[in-house]
Amino acid sequence: MSVRRLDPNQPEHFNFTPQNLAWAKEQIRKYPEGRQQAAVLPVLWRAQEQHDQWLPEPAIRYVANLLDMPYIRVYEIATFYTMFNLSPVGRYHVQLCGTTPCMLRGANDLKVVCERMIGPQGRVTPEGVFSWVEVECLGACVNAPMAQINKDYYEDLTPENFEALLEGLRRGRSMKTGPQTERQFSAPAAGAKTLLDTEIYRAPSREPAWSPERERQEQLTQNNVQAAVEAVSPVKSPEPKSGNTAKVDEARARFEKPDGPSDDLTKVKGIDAASQHVLNELGIHRYGQIGRWSDEDRQWVEARLQAKALVDTNTPGGAAPNVAGRRQGKTKDED
Ligand code: FES
Repeated sequence: MSVRRLDPNQPEHFNFTPQNLAWAKEQIRKYPEGRQQAAVLPVLWRAQEQHDQWLPEPAIRYVANLLDMPYIRVYEIATFYTMFNLSPVGRYHVQLCGTTPCMLRGANDLKVVCERMIGPQGRVTPEGVFSWVEVECLGACVNAPMAQINKDYYEDLTPENFEALLEGLRRGRSMKTGPQTERQFSAPAAGAKTLLDTEIYRAPSREPAWSPERERQEQLTQNNVQAAVEAVSPVKSPEPKSGNTAKVDEARARFEKPDGPSDDLTKVKGIDAASQHVLNELGIHRYGQIGRWSDEDRQWVEARLQAKALVDTNTPGGAAPNVAGRRQGKTKDED
């Protein structure tokens, strides 16, 4: 950034209007005791707005007195930030970013447009419409090259659309701010490439706790399990017991339901929700029980699971279980 000097033509005095003075005092009051000087930026900004968008030397001195700051400290701030104009500016003041990303994307070509349409940097056009200055990064590099005109950003500039923009402003037209191409904000120039699935923006549907269809499905599953257990049990109860009771008794004799919460057996490879249901019916609730199966236990259990699979296969939506991995009680994560 080049050295910024005060304009050679300065007014003699500067005072805030009563309204601006009241506003400045209100801002100063917002800062904690002993930190009121931190209001220097907004107060300088208001002084610039009052004085036709540029800061004369008396205004810098006035703000220093108001904030009880050494003049040199306020002078340093006013001459450091390019947001403070030290000379008169046009009705449209163009701050053209010339920092590396904008420069690599064609800012030098935009400078040529400024010189041709506005004139030398730092001068106001004769009719007072334009002035321009090159500034450092304005924080919109993602849409480089860009320029700030008064308080608006104009991005994705090309010599053509920049020239059209300046011409539109010169004619007093209201021009589109932001990207000057079809690009939407900072999305890829050739259109969005990610997050295209609109489904991901939907709120998760809340499945009702009960519905006739859900009850029908649960009943179907329960019936299948009972049918499977009854179909393969070799034990004949001496006394006729109703439905599944005899088979459950046999299972209880073989596997004792452990105390405490059940493991999620669907994590064991080859066990789905329906198979887990059968295993639970048989008293098998823990990974450790599966790990302790004897060969005979395993055959006994698998016969019942296979029988269930046969029932499932004849039921719409049913599927045969894959029993691999059950013998050792290995979870899917352990494979
Ligand atoms: S480099 Fe131009 S906006 Fe950042």
